[in-house]
Amino acid sequence: MERTTVRPGPRTAVVWQVLRRELDRAPEGGLTILDVGGGTGGFAVPLAEAGHRVTVVDASPDALAALNRRAVEAGVAPRVRAVQGDGDALTGLVSPGSVDLVLCHAVLEVVDDPRGVVAAITAALRPGGAASVLVASRAAAVLARATGGHLAAAAALLADPDGRTGPRDLLRRRYDADGAADLLRGAGLEVEDIHGVRVVADLVPAAAADEDPRTLLDLELAAAARSPYRDIAAQLHLLARRPADPV
Ligand SMILES: C[S@@+](CC[C@H](N)C(=O)[O-])C[C@H]1O[C@@H](n2cnc3c(N)ncnc32)[C@H](O)[C@@H]1O
Repeated sequence: MERTTVRPGPRTAVVWQVLRRELDRAPEGGLTILDVGGGTGGFAVPLAEAGHRVTVVDASPDALAALNRRAVEAGVAPRVRAVQGDGDALTGLVSPGSVDLVLCHAVLEVVDDPRGVVAAITAALRPGGAASVLVASRAAAVLARATGGHLAAAAALLADPDGRTGPRDLLRRRYDADGAADLLRGAGLEVEDIHGVRVVADLVPAAAADEDPRTLLDLELAAAARSPYRDIAAQLHLLARRPADPV
């Protein structure tokens, strides 16, 4: 099995590092991967390039059209299936218990029914399969609003049960690590790892990031699993697994 040739930047390096452990265990022929809300294929296309079969289920026909173009340009169209659909209604789109790895990145904060989506991805996974879940962090959003001078928005976000600034907030909710882990456990998944993603990547001046990208990337990777840095990252990444069937 080919290793992924992706050279991720500091904004996604932590996610790829966690995924690589799953990908490196892939059998000959690759993994069956489902990317729920996979959009234009930022993960799906590199995964297909590494030899895996990827189904992207997304609500947006425009995103899926861009995904298809990208897959053709990369020469991996036969390994990428684009399906328009809802993340909480996967039955009929994906065979239950058939998927080795589910990606659900930056989706739970925008859907109507995050519990429904998590239940659906759990049902799609084979026993022993893994879910890579990336969600927006409430703590980072509070600090970003406050350091930007938007104190009322920061206070609202801190107080709101869903971590929103108000009805005009573009996100439906934000998470802390415990809340995100509870959501996954509630569907029967076992949470194995939680990392912070973009601990400092959004904070460093652009000139410093351009001048020394390697050090920035190493800093992201070093801080990702450590408290308190993990908890102030812009996003939280959870790797969770559907328990294997008892023998
Ligand atoms: C913020 S984008 C994330 C895209 C990609 N996962 C990433 O990390 O770059 C959210 C994606 O979720 C899709 N989406 C929103 N609601 C959805 C739903 N109920 N079911 C499936 N996809 C949905 C959107 O069309 C969009 O492509």
